[in-house]
Amino acid sequence: MKIQEVIALVKRTKDLVENQELAEHIKVKGPADYVTQVDIGIQNFLKEELSRLAPQIQFLGEETGLQELTGDSFWILDPIDGTTNLIHGYLHSTVSLGLCQQGEIVMGIVYDPFREEVFWAEKGKGSFLNDKPIQVSKSASLSKTIIGVGTTPYQRELAEENFKCFHRVFMRCQDIRRTGSAAMELAYTACGRQGGYFEACLQPWDYAAGLLLVQEAGGLVTDFFGRPTDPRKAGSVVATNGLLHKELLELLKREPS
Ligand code: IPD
Ligand code: CA
Ligand code: CA
Repeated sequence: MKIQEVIALVKRTKDLVENQELAEHIKVKGPADYVTQVDIGIQNFLKEELSRLAPQIQFLGEETGLQELTGDSFWILDPIDGTTNLIHGYLHSTVSLGLCQQGEIVMGIVYDPFREEVFWAEKGKGSFLNDKPIQVSKSASLSKTIIGVGTTPYQRELAEENFKCFHRVFMRCQDIRRTGSAAMELAYTACGRQGGYFEACLQPWDYAAGLLLVQEAGGLVTDFFGRPTDPRKAGSVVATNGLLHKELLELLKREPS
């Protein structure tokens, strides 16, 4: 299976993402947490097509929830990362697909259908935006870069701690950003549009693909305590160009959980 075949499949979701009618069919999953018929439609489409392309690979999608996977190899899909944006016509949503093998992400694709941007990476082969190689930014100081933040919107009990961190980071960097798509934040870190990004409590489908994009573009991804992330598990994520990592981690210090 070639990554270009997988990218071609992912790009076929464009019509679904842009289907306003489907986006208006909304179900509430939890506080401020929604799913639309676009999310469900994309997940069903990619699950089916991926099993045709590579029947031996298992499938984990956000809308099926975390489940016990027995095989060594499985797709991790977020059919729409940025569902709240999609509902409001705020054009920042991505389709995020990672391939996990023996606990490692070996293929990652983040597709932004609104800008026709496909960010993709294969382990050991670099990261790309459409057909061009990408690299993380060269900034060695927070004062010279933008930092993306994530608000962990489904766990409001973390808001006080999170916003204290945002304040500390904001006072040190050029400015902060919040796109509403974790996968997009990671892709923008990989291509150097921002020096880094962090968010508490992401799920595997939010960051599996983006993790590889950042690593293959020369960056570093850890949890808030500088430990390696396990893309099969939920947890905090800090992604930077590597040069900014220590400075950013200092500002995110909290009690280990
Ligand atoms: C969410 C988005 C958001 C991030 C949340 C994620 P969803 O994913 O990535 O930017 O802050 O932590 O859960 O629910 O839109 O797939
Ligand atoms: Ca998500
Ligand atoms: Ca989602």
